Amino acid sequence: MPKVRAAREADVTSIAGICSRAYAATYQGILPAGYLDRMLAEFYVPERITKDLAPAPPSWLGYQVVEEDGRVLGTAAGSLTAPGVGELAMIYLEPGERGRGLGSLLLDRITEQVRELGATEMWVAAVVGNELALPFYEARGFTIQGKRRAYGSTDDEDAWSLRLRREI
Ligand SMILES: CC(C)(COP(=O)(O)OP(=O)(O)OC[C@H]1O[C@@H](n2cnc3c(N)ncnc32)[C@H](O)[C@@H]1OP(=O)(O)O)[C@@H](O)C(=O)NCCC(=O)NCCS
Repeated sequence: MPKVRAAREADVTSIAGICSRAYAATYQGILPAGYLDRMLAEFYVPERITKDLAPAPPSWLGYQVVEEDGRVLGTAAGSLTAPGVGELAMIYLEPGERGRGLGSLLLDRITEQVRELGATEMWVAAVVGNELALPFYEARGFTIQGKRRAYGSTDDEDAWSLRLRREI
């Protein structure tokens, strides 16, 4: 039975590996390679993940992982961006583990966490053209609210994100 729990130090390598593999599987062809490398180097190197393991509520609630038979198969994290406003900051699964409910388990955990801190709505950003994420969010009640440049992208990079919201 898969179960979701807070990440610990021993999960750092798994989280870095999952994010690197999921980035390659998800964004190749829809985001510039330089942008992908920058994001991976900024957020998903072991040093940074280790630093971010400890929750710092309300702006960072810490990595959660989904584990099955002793293997970490996916990770997600949430935050509160303003009083009453939750955000799914990231969610990534091992590419071979998609489509069997693990993403929903992680999303449920993040939703629970932000709700406990008083959130009544939840937001997420998904890269334009990410056909793995958009149908997932729409299946879980999010609707598109607008579009903005992808986090950390430069004017030269044609990288855009959709902002989605749902009430919780
Ligand atoms: C997005 C992601 C976390 C979803 O997790 P998942 O475990 O595959 O999703 P689930 O199995 O829980 O699916 C939940 C619902 O979304 C739907 N869904 C999920 N992916 C879908 C897809 N690619 N196409 C159509 N529907 C999809 C499922 O059919 C299911 O709907 P249902 O409850 O009506 O049957 C996972 O696909 C992933 O890691 N993608 C790559 C990384 C990524 O894009 N992350 C998000 C960055 S913004």
